[in-house]
Amino acid sequence: MSADWESLRSECEACRACPLGETRGKLVFGTGVRDAKVLFVGEGPGAREDELGEPFVGRSGQLLDQYFAAIGLDRHTNIYIANMVKCRPPLNRDPSPAEQDACLLWLRAQVKLLRPKVIVCVGRIAAQRLISKSFAVTREHGQFVQRGEFLMMGTFHPAALLRNPSQKSAALEDFFALRDKLAELK
Ligand code: SF4
Ligand code: URA
Repeated sequence: MSADWESLRSECEACRACPLGETRGKLVFGTGVRDAKVLFVGEGPGAREDELGEPFVGRSGQLLDQYFAAIGLDRHTNIYIANMVKCRPPLNRDPSPAEQDACLLWLRAQVKLLRPKVIVCVGRIAAQRLISKSFAVTREHGQFVQRGEFLMMGTFHPAALLRNPSQKSAALEDFFALRDKLAELK
């Protein structure tokens, strides 16, 4: 596995370790800055992401950007965003456990290069894979847990917030908690 971003990305472009690599449009490797203190991890690319090759650029992404902005974060200046799987699952189905396993080495390599202080799991899929198998977003969102050298937290997926706007204020609280945590870590 490559020790620099450029070669990691080009190796990932060539990946066909799971069937998603055959049906995707563009690879959605990840976006952001390389000295980010926070890494956000979503589930997998949707239609718009698959077209543009960038994570969270559809309706969900627009909402997520608002939460970033609320606490002074921005994908172009101080965070990094990636997904559990880098290729779009057909019809936006959940990525299977096998597909997530196959893709995890890329995320691990990204984490190794980035060395973030905090990893925020955006939604159930990422939280159940990276924090705990039984993670329940409605019950455990916004709670920070130390995992080795990383502080981890799970929050609502913006697609869930679009379906369920009553959870938006709870999601905003999670971002405020993140802002406070980042201030402590300085
Ligand atoms: Fe490779 Fe991940 Fe794409 Fe599957 S989803 S082909 S493991 S990059
Ligand atoms: N949903 C995700 O989980 N990730 C994206 O990149 C877009 C939508």
